[in-house]
Amino acid sequence: MLDSKSLTMLADALARLDEGFRHLPEFEARRADNERLREVLTVTAERLQDNFPYFHPLYAGQMLKPPHPIARLAYALAMFVNPNNHALDGGRATSAMEKEAVAEIAAMFGWKEFLGHLCGGGTMANLEALWVAGQIHPRKRILASEQAHYTHNRISSVLQLEFAPVSCDNRGRMDLNSLESALKKGDVGTVVATLGTTATGSIDPLPEILALRERYEFRIHVDAAYGGYFRLASNLAAPAKNSFLGIADADSVVIDPHKHGLQPYGCGCVLFRDPSVGKLYKHESPYTYFSSAELHLGEISLECSRPGAAAAALWATQKLLPLEPGGAFAKGLEAGRDAAVALHARLRHEDSFIPAFEPELDIVIFLPRDANSKRTSSRSRKIFEAAAKHDLHLAVAELPGRFWNDAGMEGLGDAETVTCLRSVLMKPEHQDWVPAILDRLTRAYSETRF
Ligand SMILES: Cc1ncc(COP(=O)(O)O)c(C=O)c1O
Repeated sequence: MLDSKSLTMLADALARLDEGFRHLPEFEARRADNERLREVLTVTAERLQDNFPYFHPLYAGQMLKPPHPIARLAYALAMFVNPNNHALDGGRATSAMEKEAVAEIAAMFGWKEFLGHLCGGGTMANLEALWVAGQIHPRKRILASEQAHYTHNRISSVLQLEFAPVSCDNRGRMDLNSLESALKKGDVGTVVATLGTTATGSIDPLPEILALRERYEFRIHVDAAYGGYFRLASNLAAPAKNSFLGIADADSVVIDPHKHGLQPYGCGCVLFRDPSVGKLYKHESPYTYFSSAELHLGEISLECSRPGAAAAALWATQKLLPLEPGGAFAKGLEAGRDAAVALHARLRHEDSFIPAFEPELDIVIFLPRDANSKRTSSRSRKIFEAAAKHDLHLAVAELPGRFWNDAGMEGLGDAETVTCLRSVLMKPEHQDWVPAILDRLTRAYSETRF
């Protein structure tokens, strides 16, 4: 895990940072005694051992991706200044970096004119998008698919807006007939299209949802917290590709640099196509916005204090790995997706497992073969535990049995939900680890026979 060269690089960069402040008079910082510091840090390291190895390719469970070394280093470097991107007073350099990095994300979606900023994560970013949507369409309903992240229902209740789920097809994508029936009632303010659902990485059909907006007036918010960067991937099927292209015409979009953007946690991003929504944020602050008449990020964000270090990390990552099709960053995403497609294909030919539909992004869901849906569900949990003993860490999900309708798993279509295994193959290294993952899976399967 530790690359000692990177610590030398950090020390060199810190010395460079220091040069900018050398003109100040010397002072003695009141620091803790070094011995005690070492002791506490060692205990902290021991406590942190109680984690799954998220950085390793055998961690193939939840949506967890290690930050890129440049993000870790730039974050650590900025921590020595600890800027606050609420206002230019607290984070002049990192506010500029945030504006540049966010403009690059907006450009990836085809937006030159926009309003946007970083925030704590996908939940916060979606809250802002729906808060703006609720001000534009007050008292109107918010719709999202039944496979959308649970946060949309909860956020709607925070905003006191009515929320309604829209059914999905057998591949976890929003069903257009159900959507249109709901739209016909005339009380829908916003439709949330999820491009990359959390459970299965399914892509709602955005071009068709955009077409419905021509007939029924509503806002379209795209939750691409997990999937957004796949806009750059060249190995998606046509419907997914077209949905990502459709983001250019949506009203707002959320993307999480702390998911696929190689950033440490605490980095979400919300973007609005119409910059004039900035007026909805208008507030007075008697304490903050004095150092410049230029825009302070706190003037267009619901959160006040925010880590400037997150902006420095994102900015540096995008300098090293620009957000462009065919670049190293895009290739990393494509590798994870190839791994998911490969694992899906291998599982299809296995006697012990049956995967659901082919992944649209990099998430594979699959079931162990067993006598009936009850035994299958209980076996999924057992395999989850048995695989962990072989250092293979998977995730478990509760999903509709009909997701296996096209896979020929008899008897499951009737089960409202089944407990299945879920694997997010979001590290490029996963591409080389599919055989090792499969090997451990089949061992775990045979060890869990009744
Ligand atoms: C599609 C989607 N939206 C929103 C969220 C919530 O994001 P966060 O956990 O960063 O708050 C997630 C988290 O997995 C997600 O997958």
